Amino acid sequence: MSLETSGDTEIREIVVGNAPTRFARGWHCLGLAESFKDGKPHSIEAFGTKLVAWADSNGDLKILDGYCRHMGGDLTQGTVKGDNIACPFHDWRWGGNGRCKDIPYARRVPPIAKTRAWTTLVQDGLFFVWHDPEGNPPPADVTIPRIAGATSDEWTDWIWYTTEVDTNCREIIDNIVDMAHFFYVHYSFPTFFKNVFEGHVATQIMKGQARPDMRPNTEGQPKMLGSHSEASYFGPSFMIDDLKYEYEGYDIESVLLNCHYPVSADKFVLMYGMIVKKSERLEGDAAEATAQQFGNFIARGFEQDVEIWKNKTRIENRCCARRTARSTSCDAGTSSSTSTPQR
Ligand code: FES
Ligand SMILES: [Fe+2]
Repeated sequence: MSLETSGDTEIREIVVGNAPTRFARGWHCLGLAESFKDGKPHSIEAFGTKLVAWADSNGDLKILDGYCRHMGGDLTQGTVKGDNIACPFHDWRWGGNGRCKDIPYARRVPPIAKTRAWTTLVQDGLFFVWHDPEGNPPPADVTIPRIAGATSDEWTDWIWYTTEVDTNCREIIDNIVDMAHFFYVHYSFPTFFKNVFEGHVATQIMKGQARPDMRPNTEGQPKMLGSHSEASYFGPSFMIDDLKYEYEGYDIESVLLNCHYPVSADKFVLMYGMIVKKSERLEGDAAEATAQQFGNFIARGFEQDVEIWKNKTRIENRCCARRTARSTSCDAGTSSSTSTPQR
Protein backbone atom coordinates (compact mmCIF):
# COMPACT_ATOMS: atom_id res chain seq x y z
CA MET A 1 0.00 0.00 0.00
CA SER A 2 1.44 3.35 -0.95
CA LEU A 3 0.85 6.49 1.05
CA GLU A 4 0.40 9.84 -0.59
CA THR A 5 -0.26 13.11 1.09
CA SER A 6 -2.73 15.88 0.37
CA GLY A 7 -1.95 18.82 2.56
CA ASP A 8 -1.48 17.45 6.06
CA THR A 9 -3.69 14.40 5.61
CA GLU A 10 -2.53 11.08 4.25
CA ILE A 11 -4.60 9.70 1.41
CA ARG A 12 -6.22 6.47 2.36
CA GLU A 13 -5.65 3.81 -0.27
CA ILE A 14 -8.15 1.00 -0.79
CA VAL A 15 -6.99 -2.47 0.13
CA VAL A 16 -8.87 -4.71 -2.28
CA GLY A 17 -7.68 -8.07 -0.89
CA ASN A 18 -8.92 -11.33 -2.31
CA ALA A 19 -12.42 -12.73 -2.36
CA PRO A 20 -12.71 -15.71 0.00
CA THR A 21 -12.63 -19.00 -1.87
CA ARG A 22 -14.30 -21.10 0.84
CA PHE A 23 -18.07 -21.36 0.53
CA ALA A 24 -20.25 -20.97 3.60
CA ARG A 25 -21.75 -23.78 5.63
CA GLY A 26 -25.53 -23.86 5.76
CA TRP A 27 -28.83 -24.37 4.01
CA HIS A 28 -29.05 -22.65 0.62
CA CYS A 29 -32.33 -22.14 -1.21
CA LEU A 30 -32.21 -23.07 -4.90
CA GLY A 31 -35.66 -21.77 -5.85
CA LEU A 32 -39.24 -22.98 -6.03
CA ALA A 33 -39.48 -26.77 -5.68
CA GLU A 34 -42.07 -27.05 -8.45
CA SER A 35 -39.66 -25.66 -11.02
CA PHE A 36 -37.48 -28.79 -10.56
CA LYS A 37 -40.34 -31.28 -10.96
CA ASP A 38 -40.71 -31.31 -14.74
CA GLY A 39 -39.17 -34.76 -15.28
CA LYS A 40 -35.90 -33.29 -16.56
CA PRO A 41 -32.43 -32.99 -15.05
CA HIS A 42 -31.56 -29.49 -13.86
CA SER A 43 -28.08 -28.03 -13.90
CA ILE A 44 -27.07 -26.00 -10.86
CA GLU A 45 -23.71 -24.25 -10.92
CA ALA A 46 -22.96 -23.73 -7.25
CA PHE A 47 -20.13 -23.92 -4.70
CA GLY A 48 -17.52 -23.88 -7.46
CA THR A 49 -18.89 -27.01 -9.13
CA LYS A 50 -21.84 -28.34 -11.10
CA LEU A 51 -24.75 -30.23 -9.54
CA VAL A 52 -27.61 -32.14 -11.10
CA ALA A 53 -31.10 -32.03 -9.57
CA TRP A 54 -34.15 -34.06 -10.55
CA ALA A 55 -37.38 -35.50 -9.17
CA ASP A 56 -37.66 -39.28 -8.69
CA SER A 57 -40.87 -41.20 -9.43
CA ASN A 58 -42.34 -40.09 -6.06
CA GLY A 59 -41.64 -36.45 -6.84
CA ASP A 60 -38.83 -36.34 -4.25
CA LEU A 61 -36.04 -34.01 -5.30
CA LYS A 62 -32.49 -35.37 -5.44
CA ILE A 63 -29.11 -33.74 -6.02
CA LEU A 64 -25.83 -35.36 -7.05
CA ASP A 65 -22.49 -34.06 -8.24
CA GLY A 66 -23.01 -33.10 -11.87
CA TYR A 67 -20.19 -35.14 -13.42
CA CYS A 68 -20.44 -38.89 -13.88
CA ARG A 69 -17.88 -40.94 -11.97
CA HIS A 70 -17.41 -43.28 -14.96
CA MET A 71 -15.70 -41.01 -17.50
CA GLY A 72 -16.85 -37.56 -16.48
CA GLY A 73 -20.05 -37.26 -18.53
CA ASP A 74 -22.32 -34.31 -17.73
CA LEU A 75 -25.35 -35.75 -15.92
CA THR A 76 -27.26 -32.50 -16.38
CA GLN A 77 -27.36 -33.38 -20.09
CA GLY A 78 -28.72 -36.84 -19.27
CA THR A 79 -32.23 -38.23 -18.85
CA VAL A 80 -34.41 -39.09 -15.89
CA LYS A 81 -35.16 -42.83 -16.12
CA GLY A 82 -37.46 -44.06 -13.35
CA ASP A 83 -35.96 -42.90 -10.08
CA ASN A 84 -32.49 -42.44 -11.52
CA ILE A 85 -30.51 -40.02 -13.60
CA ALA A 86 -28.99 -41.66 -16.69
CA CYS A 87 -25.66 -40.38 -18.01
CA PRO A 88 -25.74 -39.26 -21.67
CA PHE A 89 -22.34 -40.88 -22.34
CA HIS A 90 -22.81 -44.63 -21.52
CA ASP A 91 -26.21 -44.64 -19.79
CA TRP A 92 -25.00 -45.51 -16.29
CA ARG A 93 -27.93 -45.02 -13.94
CA TRP A 94 -27.31 -43.05 -10.77
CA GLY A 95 -29.70 -43.15 -7.80
CA GLY A 96 -30.51 -40.28 -5.50
CA ASN A 97 -28.34 -41.83 -2.77
CA GLY A 98 -25.26 -41.49 -5.00
CA ARG A 99 -24.96 -45.19 -5.87
CA CYS A 100 -24.79 -46.41 -9.45
CA LYS A 101 -27.88 -48.63 -9.70
CA ASP A 102 -27.38 -50.12 -13.13
CA ILE A 103 -25.01 -50.29 -16.08
CA PRO A 104 -27.16 -51.52 -18.97
CA TYR A 105 -24.31 -53.32 -20.78
CA ALA A 106 -22.52 -54.79 -17.73
CA ARG A 107 -23.27 -57.76 -15.51
CA ARG A 108 -22.53 -55.99 -12.27
CA VAL A 109 -21.95 -52.50 -10.93
CA PRO A 110 -18.50 -51.97 -9.43
CA PRO A 111 -18.76 -51.22 -5.69
CA ILE A 112 -16.67 -48.08 -6.12
CA ALA A 113 -19.29 -46.56 -8.44
CA LYS A 114 -20.56 -44.05 -5.93
CA THR A 115 -20.83 -40.30 -6.26
CA ARG A 116 -21.68 -37.47 -3.87
CA ALA A 117 -25.35 -37.14 -2.90
CA TRP A 118 -26.25 -33.76 -1.45
CA THR A 119 -28.64 -33.34 1.47
CA THR A 120 -31.84 -31.63 0.36
CA LEU A 121 -34.95 -30.18 1.96
CA VAL A 122 -38.31 -29.19 0.49
CA GLN A 123 -40.32 -26.91 2.72
CA ASP A 124 -43.03 -24.33 2.11
CA GLY A 125 -42.68 -24.80 -1.64
CA LEU A 126 -38.94 -24.08 -1.55
CA PHE A 127 -36.02 -26.33 -2.45
CA PHE A 128 -32.88 -26.23 -0.29
CA VAL A 129 -29.47 -27.88 -0.41
CA TRP A 130 -27.09 -28.25 2.51
CA HIS A 131 -23.48 -27.21 1.93
CA ASP A 132 -20.67 -27.94 4.36
CA PRO A 133 -17.07 -27.50 3.21
CA GLU A 134 -16.09 -30.27 5.63
CA GLY A 135 -18.80 -32.62 4.37
CA ASN A 136 -20.74 -32.85 7.63
CA PRO A 137 -24.56 -33.19 7.73
CA PRO A 138 -26.74 -30.36 9.06
CA PRO A 139 -26.89 -30.22 12.87
CA ALA A 140 -30.39 -30.87 14.21
CA ASP A 141 -30.73 -27.33 15.54
CA VAL A 142 -29.75 -25.61 12.26
CA THR A 143 -33.10 -25.41 10.53
CA ILE A 144 -35.13 -23.10 8.33
CA PRO A 145 -38.29 -21.96 10.16
CA ARG A 146 -41.67 -22.70 8.64
CA ILE A 147 -43.44 -19.79 6.93
CA ALA A 148 -47.10 -20.11 7.91
CA GLY A 149 -48.41 -17.94 5.06
CA ALA A 150 -46.69 -20.09 2.40
CA THR A 151 -49.20 -22.92 2.86
CA SER A 152 -52.24 -20.84 3.75
CA ASP A 153 -55.13 -19.92 1.44
CA GLU A 154 -55.18 -16.55 3.17
CA TRP A 155 -51.92 -15.69 1.44
CA THR A 156 -50.94 -15.52 -2.24
CA ASP A 157 -48.59 -17.95 -3.96
CA TRP A 158 -44.88 -17.17 -4.22
CA ILE A 159 -43.77 -14.62 -6.76
CA TRP A 160 -40.18 -15.41 -7.55
CA TYR A 161 -37.26 -13.52 -9.11
CA THR A 162 -33.79 -14.78 -9.99
CA THR A 163 -30.74 -12.88 -11.15
CA GLU A 164 -26.98 -13.38 -11.27
CA VAL A 165 -24.48 -10.97 -9.77
CA ASP A 166 -20.80 -11.00 -10.67
CA THR A 167 -19.26 -10.47 -7.27
CA ASN A 168 -18.58 -12.42 -4.09
CA CYS A 169 -21.80 -13.24 -2.26
CA ARG A 170 -20.53 -11.86 1.04
CA GLU A 171 -21.24 -8.39 -0.35
CA ILE A 172 -24.95 -9.01 0.10
CA ILE A 173 -24.60 -9.99 3.76
CA ASP A 174 -23.35 -6.48 4.59
CA ASN A 175 -26.84 -5.18 3.88
CA ILE A 176 -28.12 -6.49 7.20
CA VAL A 177 -26.14 -3.93 9.18
CA ASP A 178 -26.08 -1.17 6.58
CA MET A 179 -28.65 1.32 7.81
CA ALA A 180 -27.30 4.30 5.90
CA HIS A 181 -27.84 2.90 2.41
CA PHE A 182 -31.61 2.60 2.88
CA PHE A 183 -31.98 6.35 2.60
CA TYR A 184 -29.70 6.84 -0.38
CA VAL A 185 -30.21 3.64 -2.35
CA HIS A 186 -33.78 2.62 -1.44
CA TYR A 187 -35.29 6.05 -0.73
CA SER A 188 -36.54 5.01 2.71
CA PHE A 189 -35.75 7.08 5.78
CA PRO A 190 -35.05 4.73 8.71
CA THR A 191 -36.74 5.95 11.89
CA PHE A 192 -35.73 2.86 13.88
CA PHE A 193 -32.93 0.38 13.23
CA LYS A 194 -31.61 -2.50 15.28
CA ASN A 195 -29.50 -5.61 14.73
CA VAL A 196 -29.60 -8.73 16.91
CA PHE A 197 -27.21 -11.64 16.46
CA GLU A 198 -28.04 -14.95 18.14
CA GLY A 199 -26.23 -18.14 17.13
CA HIS A 200 -26.59 -18.59 13.38
CA VAL A 201 -29.49 -16.11 13.18
CA ALA A 202 -28.82 -12.47 12.27
CA THR A 203 -31.76 -10.10 12.56
CA GLN A 204 -32.40 -6.58 11.33
CA ILE A 205 -35.40 -4.66 12.61
CA MET A 206 -36.23 -1.47 10.77
CA LYS A 207 -39.02 1.06 10.54
CA GLY A 208 -38.87 3.40 7.62
CA GLN A 209 -40.69 6.33 6.07
CA ALA A 210 -40.97 6.71 2.34
CA ARG A 211 -39.04 9.70 0.99
CA PRO A 212 -41.65 11.96 -0.65
CA ASP A 213 -38.91 13.77 -2.56
CA MET A 214 -38.01 10.54 -4.37
CA ARG A 215 -41.41 8.80 -4.34
CA PRO A 216 -44.08 11.49 -4.60
CA ASN A 217 -47.61 10.25 -4.07
CA THR A 218 -49.63 9.78 -7.26
CA GLU A 219 -52.93 11.64 -7.34
CA GLY A 220 -55.79 9.26 -6.50
CA GLN A 221 -53.49 6.51 -5.22
CA PRO A 222 -53.35 5.53 -1.54
CA LYS A 223 -50.54 7.29 0.25
CA MET A 224 -47.75 5.08 1.56
CA LEU A 225 -46.78 6.15 5.06
CA GLY A 226 -43.97 3.78 5.82
CA SER A 227 -42.79 0.24 6.38
CA HIS A 228 -41.95 -2.09 9.25
CA SER A 229 -39.50 -4.86 8.52
CA GLU A 230 -38.22 -7.67 10.72
CA ALA A 231 -35.72 -9.64 8.68
CA SER A 232 -33.59 -12.58 9.82
CA TYR A 233 -30.87 -14.52 8.09
CA PHE A 234 -31.09 -18.17 9.10
CA GLY A 235 -27.54 -19.20 8.31
CA PRO A 236 -25.40 -17.64 5.59
CA SER A 237 -27.84 -17.19 2.75
CA PHE A 238 -31.55 -17.41 3.56
CA MET A 239 -33.41 -14.40 4.91
CA ILE A 240 -37.08 -14.27 5.90
CA ASP A 241 -38.46 -10.74 6.15
CA ASP A 242 -41.83 -10.08 7.80
CA LEU A 243 -42.55 -6.88 5.96
CA LYS A 244 -45.50 -4.61 6.53
CA TYR A 245 -46.28 -1.59 4.40
CA GLU A 246 -48.48 1.04 6.00
CA TYR A 247 -50.83 3.01 3.80
CA GLU A 248 -53.34 5.66 4.83
CA GLY A 249 -56.15 3.62 6.39
CA TYR A 250 -54.76 0.13 5.94
CA ASP A 251 -51.66 -2.09 6.04
CA ILE A 252 -50.37 -4.74 3.68
CA GLU A 253 -48.62 -7.71 5.24
CA SER A 254 -46.09 -9.64 3.25
CA VAL A 255 -43.25 -12.09 3.65
CA LEU A 256 -40.22 -11.32 1.56
CA LEU A 257 -37.49 -13.90 1.04
CA ASN A 258 -34.01 -12.80 0.15
CA CYS A 259 -31.67 -15.68 -0.58
CA HIS A 260 -28.68 -16.61 -2.67
CA TYR A 261 -26.16 -19.30 -3.40
CA PRO A 262 -22.58 -18.87 -4.55
CA VAL A 263 -21.62 -19.97 -8.07
CA SER A 264 -17.94 -19.20 -7.61
CA ALA A 265 -15.77 -16.82 -5.60
CA ASP A 266 -16.88 -13.95 -7.84
CA LYS A 267 -20.43 -14.81 -8.82
CA PHE A 268 -23.68 -15.64 -7.04
CA VAL A 269 -27.31 -16.29 -7.88
CA LEU A 270 -29.62 -13.90 -6.07
CA MET A 271 -33.27 -14.80 -5.59
CA TYR A 272 -36.12 -13.02 -3.92
CA GLY A 273 -39.67 -14.17 -3.42
CA MET A 274 -42.79 -12.75 -1.93
CA ILE A 275 -46.22 -13.72 -0.61
CA VAL A 276 -48.88 -11.20 0.39
CA LYS A 277 -51.70 -11.65 2.89
CA LYS A 278 -55.15 -11.37 1.39
CA SER A 279 -57.64 -9.16 3.19
CA GLU A 280 -61.09 -7.68 2.69
CA ARG A 281 -59.35 -5.02 0.70
CA LEU A 282 -57.18 -7.53 -1.09
CA GLU A 283 -59.08 -10.61 -2.16
CA GLY A 284 -58.35 -13.16 -4.84
CA ASP A 285 -56.99 -11.56 -7.99
CA ALA A 286 -56.50 -8.22 -6.22
CA ALA A 287 -54.13 -9.88 -3.74
CA GLU A 288 -52.25 -11.63 -6.53
CA ALA A 289 -52.04 -8.36 -8.48
CA THR A 290 -50.82 -6.54 -5.37
CA ALA A 291 -48.25 -9.26 -4.73
CA GLN A 292 -47.07 -8.82 -8.30
CA GLN A 293 -46.91 -5.02 -7.88
CA PHE A 294 -45.11 -5.46 -4.59
CA GLY A 295 -42.78 -7.96 -6.17
CA ASN A 296 -41.96 -5.46 -8.90
CA PHE A 297 -41.48 -2.74 -6.28
CA ILE A 298 -39.15 -4.98 -4.24
CA ALA A 299 -37.39 -6.09 -7.41
CA ARG A 300 -36.56 -2.45 -8.09
CA GLY A 301 -35.12 -2.26 -4.56
CA PHE A 302 -32.91 -5.26 -5.24
CA GLU A 303 -31.89 -3.86 -8.59
CA GLN A 304 -30.74 -0.74 -6.77
CA ASP A 305 -28.46 -2.90 -4.62
CA VAL A 306 -27.33 -4.98 -7.59
CA GLU A 307 -26.33 -1.84 -9.45
CA ILE A 308 -24.13 -0.87 -6.49
CA TRP A 309 -22.58 -4.35 -6.19
CA LYS A 310 -21.88 -4.57 -9.91
CA ASN A 311 -19.93 -1.35 -9.90
CA LYS A 312 -18.27 -1.16 -6.49
CA THR A 313 -14.83 -2.53 -5.67
CA ARG A 314 -13.93 -5.00 -2.99
CA ILE A 315 -12.58 -3.18 0.03
CA GLU A 316 -11.07 -4.73 3.12
CA ASN A 317 -10.09 -1.54 4.95
CA ARG A 318 -13.43 0.20 5.13
CA CYS A 319 -13.41 3.75 6.35
CA CYS A 320 -16.17 3.98 8.95
CA ALA A 321 -17.62 7.03 10.67
CA ARG A 322 -19.80 7.52 13.70
CA ARG A 323 -23.27 8.73 12.83
CA THR A 324 -24.38 10.95 15.64
CA ALA A 325 -23.81 11.39 19.35
CA ARG A 326 -26.88 9.25 19.97
CA SER A 327 -25.66 6.45 17.72
CA THR A 328 -23.66 3.61 19.26
CA SER A 329 -22.15 2.22 16.12
CA CYS A 330 -20.13 2.88 13.00
CA ASP A 331 -21.86 3.90 9.78
CA ALA A 332 -22.84 0.39 8.81
CA GLY A 333 -24.27 -0.41 12.26
CA THR A 334 -23.15 -3.12 14.66
CA SER A 335 -24.54 -5.94 16.72
CA SER A 336 -27.41 -5.08 19.04
CA SER A 337 -27.30 -1.37 18.32
CA THR A 338 -30.37 0.82 18.22
CA SER A 339 -30.05 4.10 16.42
CA THR A 340 -32.09 7.15 15.66
CA PRO A 341 -30.53 8.44 12.47
CA GLN A 342 -30.26 12.07 11.51
CA ARG A 343 -30.57 13.28 7.96
S1 FES B 1 -19.28 -41.09 -18.48
FE1 FES B 1 -21.21 -41.45 -17.59
S2 FES B 1 -21.75 -43.39 -18.21
FE2 FES B 1 -19.78 -43.14 -19.01
FE1 LIG C 1 -30.17 -2.86 0.07
